[in-house]
Amino acid sequence: MHHFHYSGQDLHCESADLAAIAKLYGTPTYVYSAATMADNYHRLQRNLSGLDLQICYAMKANSNLAVIRHFANLGAGFDLVSGGELRRVLAAGAKVNTSVFAGVGKTEGEIKLALENGIYAFHVESEPELARINHVAGQLGVKAPIAIRINPDVDAHTHAKITTGKSDNKFGIPLKHAAAAYEAAAKLKNLRIRGVQMHIGSQLTEVGPFVEAVKKVAGFVAELKAAYGIEYFSIGGGMGIVYRDALASGPQSWWDAQPADKRPLTPELYGATLTPLLVPLGLKILLEHGRFMVGNAGVLLARVEHLKRGAGKNFLIVDAAMNDLVRPAMYESFHEIVPVHRDSSRRALVADIVGPICESGDCFAKDRSIQEVGEGELVALMSAGAYGYVMASRYNTRGMPAEVMVNGSAFELVNVRETFESMTAGEKIPAFLK
Ligand code: LLP
Repeated sequence: MHHFHYSGQDLHCESADLAAIAKLYGTPTYVYSAATMADNYHRLQRNLSGLDLQICYAMKANSNLAVIRHFANLGAGFDLVSGGELRRVLAAGAKVNTSVFAGVGKTEGEIKLALENGIYAFHVESEPELARINHVAGQLGVKAPIAIRINPDVDAHTHAKITTGKSDNKFGIPLKHAAAAYEAAAKLKNLRIRGVQMHIGSQLTEVGPFVEAVKKVAGFVAELKAAYGIEYFSIGGGMGIVYRDALASGPQSWWDAQPADKRPLTPELYGATLTPLLVPLGLKILLEHGRFMVGNAGVLLARVEHLKRGAGKNFLIVDAAMNDLVRPAMYESFHEIVPVHRDSSRRALVADIVGPICESGDCFAKDRSIQEVGEGELVALMSAGAYGYVMASRYNTRGMPAEVMVNGSAFELVNVRETFESMTAGEKIPAFLK
C-alpha cells in the first residue's frame, strides 16, 4: 500500500501535486512519501508484535539522511554495510547501538569506526573475518559483539543477482560448518557472541522460502542459545513489493480484491506465518527489510523530451536515464510508468520508454502501453524508492538527481540536484599534461 494516487486528473504523493514538485525542483527527481514509509514500518511491527522485535532498516535500499532520520524517529535501528553508511546514521542524528554491520569485506577502519560508536553487532560472514574483528577489538581494548551469518541453502525463487541464501552464493557460512565457526569465535577473547543471522535473498514474493529457512536453522539457533546464551536471531530482510500493479496497489481495496492464492506477499501473511515458528526460540528477533520499507514509497519523476515515431516502433524519450534508475538495465526489472496528468480522452501509445544515454540498455520499458504524452509532459516511474537513487551514477556526466520528501501537503528538497561543479570538484589535470 502507498500514498500515490490521482486526485482529479493529477498524480499526487499524499496531498502534494507531483507536477508542482517537478516545477519547483526540475526533473529527474525522486519523490518519497513519508507517510508510506511510516505505514510500512508500523505494519511490519504490528504483524510481528508477538515477538520481541527490533526492525533494522536495510539502509542500502535508500540511505538519504531524511529517510534515515524518519526511520530512527519511528524506532528503527539500521542494517548497514559500510563505514559510509555508518557515518550516514550518525549524520542523520540517529544512534548506532541498535544497528548491525553486515557485509563480506569489512575493513579494519570500518570495524574500528563501528566499535567506537557502539555497534549492536557485526554480522560475520567468514572465519578470517572473525579473526580480523577480534584483532581490531583487541587493539581498542573492547569486546566486539558478533553474530555469524548462516547460509541455509534455500532457494528464494528470486532474480539470480539478488539471491543470497544458496550454498553457491558468496554469503554466510553453511549450516554444517556453522557450529565450528561459533566454536572458533568462542575461543577469540575479544569477541562476544551475541546472536545469529541469515538472509536468503531480496524481492521474495512467497512466504515459503522464509518458512523453509527458519525451519532449517531453528534447531541450531536453539543450540546456540543453550551453548552461548545468544540474545537474538536476525532473519534478514527480503520481503518483495508489487512492481507490476504498482499504482493500483495503493489502497487496501486492491489487496482485498486479489484472490488469496494470487495476493502478493504481505506483512500480514509474513507475520502470521513466521511468528509461531519464532516465538518458541525465546530470542529477540531482528528484521532487516529494506525494499519493503521504502520501495513503494518512492517514484522517479521524469519529463518527456520527445516522442519519436519510428517504422513500426515508437520511442518515448524521457529525461531520466539508466544512470538515475539502473534496475531495468541491470536486472531487467519492471517499473510501472504512468502519466502525471491523466487524460482519458487521449489515445494509448505503445512505445519503448527510454533515456538519452548512448546505449541500447538505457531502456526503462519495452513496448509499453501508456497514454499518449508529448514533449514537456511528466511521467512517474513507480516503485522507485528502493535501490533507486542509491544505485544511481554520473554516467554520461549526468549529475545525480534531486530527492524530495513529502509529508501531507508539505514537501521539502532532501537532496539537491548535483551540479557540474560538484561532479568534477575532485578532478584535476596533472602537471605533465599542462
Ligand atoms: N540484509 C542483507 C544481509 C542483505 O544483503 C539485504 C539486501 C537486505 C538485508 C535487504 O534486502 P531487502 O529487504 O531490501 O530485499 N539492488 C537489488 C537488491 C539487492 C539486495 C541486496 N541485499 C535490487 O535493486 O533489486
